[in-house]
Amino acid sequence: MSDSYSLLILPGDGIGPEVMAEVRKVIAWFEDHRGMRFDVSEDLVGGAAYDKHGKPLADETMAKAQEVDAVLLGAVGGPAYDDLDFSVKPERGLLRLRKEMDLFANLRPAQCFDALADFSSLKREIVAGLDILILRELTSGVYFGEPRGIHSDDNNPDNEGGRVGVNTQRYTSGEIRRIARSAFELARKRGNRVCSMEKANVMESGILWREEVQWVHDNEYPDVELTHMYADNGAMQLVRNPRQFDVIVTDNLFGDILSDAAAMLTGSLGMLPSASLGAKMENGRPKAMYEPVHGSAPDIAGQGKANPIACILSFAMALRYSFDEGQAADDLEAAVEKVLADGVRTADLMGPEGGTPVTTAQMGDKIIEALGAR
Ligand code: IPM
Ligand code: MG
Repeated sequence: MSDSYSLLILPGDGIGPEVMAEVRKVIAWFEDHRGMRFDVSEDLVGGAAYDKHGKPLADETMAKAQEVDAVLLGAVGGPAYDDLDFSVKPERGLLRLRKEMDLFANLRPAQCFDALADFSSLKREIVAGLDILILRELTSGVYFGEPRGIHSDDNNPDNEGGRVGVNTQRYTSGEIRRIARSAFELARKRGNRVCSMEKANVMESGILWREEVQWVHDNEYPDVELTHMYADNGAMQLVRNPRQFDVIVTDNLFGDILSDAAAMLTGSLGMLPSASLGAKMENGRPKAMYEPVHGSAPDIAGQGKANPIACILSFAMALRYSFDEGQAADDLEAAVEKVLADGVRTADLMGPEGGTPVTTAQMGDKIIEALGAR
């Protein structure tokens, strides 16, 4: 009998609950067929939490997230919450989880499944076989730097409108070194190459970033190939020749932007999973939260149109990184690949070549079927 794995599920807003329902099916399948045991609890985050508690993450939910082996999050946000005060916006719930769990390493793999290569906005020959990993620093930088805010610009009479908006890009050497170590560790298990991206040509924090990543490399990981690139060039290279990369390591804001671009290379934002990892807990597992890279997609919520694959692949990452169930993760990923190869398509994946159109729930069922056939 294996250990029981504790999971906190936070479906969130928009399409979050629909895609998470498919993950629930996958969890049940692994319990029924692989003898795994999951101790699953569910709670609210984002707008759903705001509706009930007046804030996007209740303190009890935060406390629960600190205790479980892993958190699985759907998506947060929606037009109903656009006018809320910044401090209670749905996104703040997500950022609080990342910050308080100290999930500094955000893994965003971008893999192009062969069946979807024609689906990318780039030509097949540029994206076929693509397999890169963007490692985004997730708990610092301009997302959290102080000072921040919007205030009046009293001393500057020439400023039309009279206000200033301020955010601060701030990185300590320690923060850079720990994310750099994660990048080199991950690279050793892949293609052994790291490309670090910043804007050292205009930002001091970028200079520090470059120096510290190089320091970690020279002192601890000289066997891994390291290159540096300005992030704007990196964005261009990602769409010019994305296969030149193996692991890309970058800061919070550049990572946010570059990972969206990388996602589109693979055909659909509905395909991309992510893992956010922190330090090891007492039981040896890393603090962890898994979430699809896509957002809450309010325009299609509740219509059975959403693609559950990103969320299901996020669960596969949980199997791999939190539970050490590498074989189960491989099987789940292979089941997804099989279903795609069979032409099963949610609306976002429906191209000119056609295929079998399915709803969110049918996609989940097909993946379970393919799992069963393995
Ligand atoms: C992401 C999202 C979030 C971010 C939002 C929802 C706060 O875009 O996870 O990429 O900017 O980090
Ligand atoms: Mg983003």
